[in-house]
Amino acid sequence: MQSVPGAGCLLLCLLPAILGAQAGGEVKPRPPPCQQNLTKVSCRAAGLHSFPEDLPQGVKHLDLSHNLLQNLSEGCLPALGQLEHLDLRSNLLEAISGPALAQLPWLHSLLLGSNRLHQNYRDNAVAFSALRSIEVLDLSANGLESHMVGGFLSGLTALRVLHLPRNRLSQLPVGIFQGSPQLTELDLSNNYIMDIEEGAFEALRELAVLNLALNSLHCLSSFSLRQLQVLNLSHNALELFGWEEGRGPYLLQVLDLSHNRLLSFPQLPAAHRLVHLNLSHNSITSLDPGSHHPAQFVLRYEEMVSFSTSLSTAASLTRLAELDLSYNCLQLLPLLFFRAMSSLFTLSVAMNCLQNITMELLSRDGDRDSNGTAVWQEDTVLSVRSMDLHGNAIRALPHWFFDALPQLEAIDLGSNSLQPCGSDMGGKSGGGSPEAEPCTAFHSIPHLQHLSLRRNSLTQLPPHTFSRTPLLSLDLSENRGLAVPWAALEGLEHSLQQLWLRGNHMDNSRAEIPCLGELRVLDLSGNRLSLLPTGLFCSPLQTLDVSGNELPVLPEQALMGWTRSLRALCLAENPFQCCELGWLDALQAAGVQLPDLHRARCIHHSITNRTAPLSSRLPWLCPQPWAGSSVLVLAALLGVLLCAGCRVCRLRGQGVGILLPQPQTERVAEGGAAHSDTKV
Ligand SMILES: *[C@@H]1O[C@H](CO)[C@@H](O)[C@H](O)[C@H]1NC(C)=O
Ligand SMILES: *[C@@H]1O[C@H](CO)[C@@H](O)[C@H](O)[C@H]1NC(C)=O
Ligand SMILES: *[C@@H]1O[C@H](CO)[C@@H](O)[C@H](O)[C@H]1NC(C)=O
Ligand SMILES: *[C@@H]1O[C@H](CO)[C@@H](O)[C@H](O)[C@H]1NC(C)=O
Ligand SMILES: *[C@@H]1O[C@H](CO)[C@@H](O)[C@H](O)[C@H]1NC(C)=O
Ligand SMILES: *[C@@H]1O[C@H](CO)[C@@H](O)[C@H](O)[C@H]1NC(C)=O
Ligand SMILES: *[C@@H]1O[C@H](CO)[C@@H](O)[C@H](O)[C@H]1NC(C)=O
Repeated sequence: MQSVPGAGCLLLCLLPAILGAQAGGEVKPRPPPCQQNLTKVSCRAAGLHSFPEDLPQGVKHLDLSHNLLQNLSEGCLPALGQLEHLDLRSNLLEAISGPALAQLPWLHSLLLGSNRLHQNYRDNAVAFSALRSIEVLDLSANGLESHMVGGFLSGLTALRVLHLPRNRLSQLPVGIFQGSPQLTELDLSNNYIMDIEEGAFEALRELAVLNLALNSLHCLSSFSLRQLQVLNLSHNALELFGWEEGRGPYLLQVLDLSHNRLLSFPQLPAAHRLVHLNLSHNSITSLDPGSHHPAQFVLRYEEMVSFSTSLSTAASLTRLAELDLSYNCLQLLPLLFFRAMSSLFTLSVAMNCLQNITMELLSRDGDRDSNGTAVWQEDTVLSVRSMDLHGNAIRALPHWFFDALPQLEAIDLGSNSLQPCGSDMGGKSGGGSPEAEPCTAFHSIPHLQHLSLRRNSLTQLPPHTFSRTPLLSLDLSENRGLAVPWAALEGLEHSLQQLWLRGNHMDNSRAEIPCLGELRVLDLSGNRLSLLPTGLFCSPLQTLDVSGNELPVLPEQALMGWTRSLRALCLAENPFQCCELGWLDALQAAGVQLPDLHRARCIHHSITNRTAPLSSRLPWLCPQPWAGSSVLVLAALLGVLLCAGCRVCRLRGQGVGILLPQPQTERVAEGGAAHSDTKV
């Protein structure tokens, strides 16, 4: 306490008194440290330095986490013979006594994470041998090193789940898990493991889930845990991941290899059950498992041979449903590679260096037609439903692309350099003519419902760009200067439900939206619109974002049409006119949510363009409608001249209900005068 400065101490001392005073002078009784519900007792974060006394008989579930306990000794645990679950996480435990644990014959779950059990690890390990029926043990964040762990586990023959993350393990020696052969789930994440001795997991015949994420593994050359179902190796430094060949199939279903240093697609010869494979955030430049030479795309006989081995690798992955290849360095995407993955549902190749989608790994000259585009092989049909290709350098998709993906429902093509072709530009125009800018046809894709062409530097949408494609959502945001002419979205009238046109800097003439009879969500923010496209007035909009435009008013009639459907409207950053806000009243009366109303402002054109918050506008600063007539202006002027007080009376009489101070009254007069000047 010496380091606490005097003033701080004073405040600390006074604080309870202040708080007490605020609570009406009564000091509330402190809540009891523990709460009981049937056989559950929780003393979580109760500031306990020692084990609570007088705990009731028959408690099965005891939570003592987030306290200041240092010891667990015999005296502590009277009458807890029924205990099944004990949570001691986040205490200061250094010493645990064996006789204490021996008093808990029914304990099957013991959580000791975030303590200091490494301090007396020899004695603590001996104490653990009393936990004969323990099934779940959490020893995370206890400062444990590799040589300490084996002792803790030596007699835990019933243990099924063991958590050891956030310790200081650097290697896994043979025999470390010998004492607990029933383990099914083992979490070793967030340690410093660099080395796993061959046979370290040999005793664990039941192991199904193994988490080795966030370690320092460089190489796993002969992975042999055939019984494993889930393996997490993300955030290591793996350059190589190889499987032991022969000897039957693997049961692995989930393999996370994200955030490593793999240079090529791993060889997974017997992974017949794999469902989820995450290879994101690696350095994969090729889908050829044998390739260790980044950026080699020269046609070579050996590489063609090795592509057939890579096809055989892929051929075993018949159950793979989800494959994440995002954040790698692939330049080519040979669709043939994925053909054997007959269950593939979701494929992400986002944030790579893709320029071309090809059929083969290396497109041979024989596969090119006279126009230089790779030829689609009729039988190459992928089962993919959802594909993410955003963040690449694709200029055009080959004309057979969507034919090869007949079940495709969603594709993200954001942040590429695609240009769409119109439906009347000669049917399916994949590469276009050799001289012209290549374009990609988005019409007549039978099942496509979700399409993003965000950030593609699109400038013009040709007529009927998406006709005969049953799009539900379309993202055309962040294509600066995009023009959407009348006919561009034709064909989507009866399907499109969500449309994003955010950040396109479109002016009124570039946003011609037809009547989209199903449109529910529309984002027009970040454009230069001073009028809403009239085609929209027939859409049953529910969510509309018009923030960041140049709108002086919103069309009250259209809004009234929408109020039955409209739930939320974003409107900040528009130069609304303070004196024409009838539409706002209508919206508020209809209960439409205005989430950014607090940021919205309006302009008083009559008062040297002064802006005011829309949420607390000052209606009396606006000229009253009747003041426009010159007779009444004269009358008002007369009134001002004759009796300044009368105006105040009149305002009150009108029910504004605020007695204006003198200077403001003058302002109203100025405003009225300025207004009548412009009108006369
Ligand atoms: C007590 O526990 C039961 C079952 O766990 C739960 O449904 C109930 O809401 C709890 N009562 C209180 C007061 O927490
Ligand atoms: C913990 O136990 C040790 C030895 O059993 C004892 O010396 C020490 O005082 C105990 N500490 C507390 C806080 O009970
Ligand atoms: C693997 O571990 C990382 C790091 O803890 C985690 O983010 C990721 O979700 C895990 N992967 C799976 C498939 O559970
Ligand atoms: C793959 O891993 C990355 C990074 O850990 C994660 O962001 C991504 O969601 C994972 N992919 C899938 C399909 O789960
Ligand atoms: C992609 O295709 C273009 C034109 O067909 C070609 O010039 C380029 O070299 C190809 N890129 C790769 C990586 O094959
Ligand atoms: C090559 O392109 C031209 C014009 O784009 C087209 O008429 C012709 O059918 C194409 N040839 C082949 C073999 O696809
Ligand atoms: C108010 O704004 C309008 C439009 O921006 C401008 O033409 C006019 O000059 C401004 N008036 C004053 C008094 O600043």
